[in-house]
This record gives sequence, C-alpha cells and structure tokens, in this order.
Amino acid sequence: MSNRTLAIIKPDAIQNRLTGKIIDHILDNGFDIIAMKKIHLSVAEAKEFYAIHKEKPFYSDLVSFMTSGPCVVLTLQKEEAVEAWRNTIGATDPAEASPGTIRNLYADTVQNNAVHGSDSDENAIKEIAFFFSINEILMN
Ligand code: CMP
Repeated sequence: MSNRTLAIIKPDAIQNRLTGKIIDHILDNGFDIIAMKKIHLSVAEAKEFYAIHKEKPFYSDLVSFMTSGPCVVLTLQKEEAVEAWRNTIGATDPAEASPGTIRNLYADTVQNNAVHGSDSDENAIKEIAFFFSINEILMN
C-alpha cells in the first residue's frame, strides 16, 4: 500500500479563496505536504490528465473548467494515503459527500467539486509524476 497521493485544489476553490482553508484541512487530517505548486493547466494538459474520461459526456466541460483558472497541485504523504485522502474529500458529488468532508464543506457541483484525489495507488504514482519531477518532491 502506497503512502502517497495526488491532490488538486481546483479552479472553483481557488476562485472562492478557499486555498488556505483546504490546506489547513489537509494538515489537520495528518497529511504531510511533500510537494506543492500553483499552476494553470493548458487545454492539452487537462485533456491528457483526464484522458480516462474522454468518452464521458462531461469531458469537454471538465477540460474547460480545469483550464478556467489556476489550480494548486500537491503530493500528500500519510499511511494508506489514497484511501485516507478520498475519505477526507468525500464523494465526487458534493450533495452525497459526508458531513465535514472537503466537498461537503466547500464544493458546489459534481463538476466544480473543489478538489481531486487519486483513485488507486497505481494512478497516484502516474498522477504525481504527471505534475512533479523527482527533485520537486521532498525525500524524507
Ligand atoms: P475528479 O475527482 O477530479 O475526477 C474526474 C472529475 O470529473 C470529477 O472530479 C469531477 O470534477 C468531474 N465529474 C465527474 N462526474 C461528473 C459528472 N457526472 N458530471 C460532470 N462532471 C463530473
């Protein structure tokens, strides 16, 4: 079981000035932030990152949303990080997210859902490598 996962604070949360609150939530839940940066995804990058969804009806709106403003991407470390982070953010649709989860507290819609989390250890490794080079990740 891997101890790392990728998190993204999405453009809606940045626009709503929630970055600090979400980073506090991450730290309060015992995650170590071992890499973090603010970026503005290009259309090509967003298409590639979400390629797994390219046949879905929401793909083109998702790419537009994810390129509508900056994101903060983070590598989080904690025991069983993928599952721990998914529990911390709650269900994809904020209407179904448990009370106290990030999406319950801060997200608006199933698309504009404030944060991303990797869905498996295998994808976490790929997603971290998508955004960070080895020398951008703390090795302690
Ligand atoms: P994320 O966890 O980043 O993974 C894929 C994203 O697609 C998801 O968060 C949402 O932003 C978006 N998404 C998933 N399902 C839907 C849907 N039914 N309608 C619109 N957007 C969706």
